[in-house]
Amino acid sequence: MKLGDSAENFENEATLQLDSNGELRHLLTLKGLDKATLTQLLDEAEQYLTSPGSVPARSRSLEGRTVGNLFFEPSTRTRASFDLAGKRLGADVLNLDVNTSSRKKGESILDTIYTLEAMQVDFMVVRDAGAGVPAYIARHVSDHVSVLNAGEADISHPTQGLLDLLTIRLHKVDFGELIVAIVGDIQHSRVAMSALHGLQTLGVAEVRLISPPALAPDPEKVPGARIMDSLDDGLRDADVVMALRIQRERIGNLDGIPGIDEYFANFGLSHKRMKIAKADAIVMHPGPMNRGIEIEGALADGPSSVITEQVTNGVAVRMAVLDRVAKTMGTR
Ligand code: CP
Repeated sequence: MKLGDSAENFENEATLQLDSNGELRHLLTLKGLDKATLTQLLDEAEQYLTSPGSVPARSRSLEGRTVGNLFFEPSTRTRASFDLAGKRLGADVLNLDVNTSSRKKGESILDTIYTLEAMQVDFMVVRDAGAGVPAYIARHVSDHVSVLNAGEADISHPTQGLLDLLTIRLHKVDFGELIVAIVGDIQHSRVAMSALHGLQTLGVAEVRLISPPALAPDPEKVPGARIMDSLDDGLRDADVVMALRIQRERIGNLDGIPGIDEYFANFGLSHKRMKIAKADAIVMHPGPMNRGIEIEGALADGPSSVITEQVTNGVAVRMAVLDRVAKTMGTR
């Protein structure tokens, strides 16, 4: 079955993730989450940040609970940070090795979930290439189980969106003043979608989505954003610049996509190009990076880059999300 084609899967994820009191019980999307909820999650995440080199923040709020990491697509940052987030909250963490799991013998995703439920896994952290998979699972789990979307096709990556918002908030005071430029493969980027949803809810002045025409988004999927095909125009007066990699794993036909040299010449972020943006603009990238294609290595490692901070903030955000849904479920 192709989950994304099922009418059942188009049920509004924004509603499905809330309980009857409007509290977050799953995290499926940032779309539709209100400003107060986003701000509260960012505030809670900020409390889990400690100064570089110091001992990471810990609590016992999830003691006795179990976090299951189910990554049906590769990951370094998201998987490792959910692992650390769970452990730093005192939970047991199960990292299912999908390549050696019974999924390879044809077991369905729901039977996999029910099997883990029977082992009293409370939080299912799911990454999958199929659209609608986190919501599909959320509709089928028991009342005590919470589903967290760790990257859904090209649809959304809500915890990445939250860590991007937190990183921006730590560097820029007023979202209402900000021009955010996102450059790269917008069409296939779940990161861009979640960033857009979160930034718009927090009232950002302008989001620019910059790409070659072959990688531009469907305008109907990005209402309110400015779609552009010139990086120089897109960088003008930008406060925040986020580079994205080309998601080759989601592109069937590479026709119309520039080769590496041409791509870097026209859409690659570099020190030279960043002079067009505001002098204090920050440079972001969700990772993994392809240095020399979408971003110059020296820029990624330079003083305007907040890329490693994004990674650090990812652990804090995932701790805050686990804490929040656990509170809703009454499991902490
Ligand atoms: N940004 C992000 O999702 O990275 P990983 O694929 O390494 O988890």
